[in-house]
This record gives sequence, structure tokens and C-alpha cells, in this order.
Amino acid sequence: MASSTSSSSSSPASKPAAQAAGGGEVQKPLARAGTFAKAFVFSPGTVGAIAPSSQALAAAMVRGVDFSDMRAVIEYGPGCGSFTGAIRAAAPKGVKYFAIELSPKLAERFAAAHPDARLYIGSATEVAEFCRQENLSGHVCVDAVFSGLPFASFGVDLQRSILERTVQVLRPGGIFRTFAYSGFSALTPAGRRFRKLLHKHFGSVTMSKTVWKNLPPAFVYSCRKEG
Ligand SMILES: C[S@@+](CC[C@H](N)C(=O)[O-])C[C@H]1O[C@@H](n2cnc3c(N)ncnc32)[C@H](O)[C@@H]1O
Repeated sequence: MASSTSSSSSSPASKPAAQAAGGGEVQKPLARAGTFAKAFVFSPGTVGAIAPSSQALAAAMVRGVDFSDMRAVIEYGPGCGSFTGAIRAAAPKGVKYFAIELSPKLAERFAAAHPDARLYIGSATEVAEFCRQENLSGHVCVDAVFSGLPFASFGVDLQRSILERTVQVLRPGGIFRTFAYSGFSALTPAGRRFRKLLHKHFGSVTMSKTVWKNLPPAFVYSCRKEG
């Protein structure tokens, strides 16, 4: 695991995830849900959900993605790692994977569940720097980004900044997937604004059907960079 503070000027030092987590603890679902709910209470705007996403939503996040020619994928905001197993199971061996998580507490949980996954503690706004640390050349070096970020809770500057930086590191034709809660995206100004920003930054944007087996029900945005 590469760990750091959330400051953008920080320089994460690489170390195995299990070390940072205090050794490969077996993650219990209740403890995981408890850590997540606590993180939400203390930081509702950055955690954006009271419970981790379901496996049904994790499956929808990777459905139809062709990983065969990919070399590098990133996960934003993995929390305790609800999507991580599905992403890593779908990606062939040899595809580089790393995650970026803002909350040190959730990062600890993540590391306990996925001790061999590389994780940076920091913000998705720092993605270019983390790519450099992974020896991926700063721009157009990533095939896919899977985001668990609560974009509908973010202000416009953060929404825009993360999307701009994501497009910068994605190769032409690269994929961006993220989810939103059904209803919220259409009803709240931040959700509507985010949808418009997706259309502005990506060549194509489609929405999945609602995944009802999630609390609350959600859908997946599938976006592709032009090129
Ligand atoms: C809605 S939770 C999703 C967690 C997990 N992916 C899931 O679906 O269960 C949002 C996650 O994004 C993280 N997060 C929020 N802002 C972030 C940022 N700027 N960069 C990286 N992670 C961030 C939060 O700490 C939290 O773990």
C-alpha cells in the first residue's frame, strides 16, 4: 500500500497494504458496515452513503467491460472495497490496479480486506501524481477508472476538477464508470450538474438500468473518452 495524508503536496511512501492495516485481518461484514456508517456520520459530504454498496452494484460496475487489452486500471473511493473484488476478478493478471481513498479509517478497512492491493491515501484530484508513482507516464496512461465517489455530494469545483484530471490520465477510448443513486441524479441540482459535466468531458455516456439490490437503489454511468 502506498499511504499518505490527504494533502495534495504529500508524497506517499509505498508499503504493502497488509502492513499499513496491521496485517491481513479477516474483514467481518458487520465491522465493515460499522466503520462505514461511522465514517459517514463524521464526513457525510465525502462518504456520501450510509452503507457500503452491494455486490449487485459491484457486478453492474464491471458488466460489459472488455479488460482484455488493458494495462492499468484505477479505483477511486473504494471505501472498504465493495467494488474491488469484482474489478480485480474481471481484470486479467498483469493488469496494474491501484486505488485512491481519502479516508484513512476506510483505507485501513480496505487494506485489511485486500492486503495485496495497492492503495494511495489521498484525493482523486491527485491521480496524475499517483500515476507517476506507479511509473505510469503522467498523461493518457490509464485504460479504465472505476469510481465509488459520491459526486452528487460534491461542489461543482471538485466535480469538475476530478473529471478533468481523470480525462487527462485516460487513454483515448478509455473508460470511466461511476454510480449514482436513482432519483438523486435527476432530482438534485448537484446530480443534474454532474450528469452535464459527464457529457461535457466524455465522448459517450450511457446509464444502466436501476440496480434495485442496493441501498439505496442505484445505476451506473458508463463513459468513454473520445478517440
Ligand atoms: C459512497 S462511498 C463508496 C465506497 C465504496 N466504493 C462503496 O461503493 O461501497 C465514497 C468513498 O469515496 C471516498 N472519497 C470521497 N472523496 C474522495 C476523494 N476526493 N478522493 C478519493 N476518495 C474519496 C470516501 O472516503 C468513501 O470511501
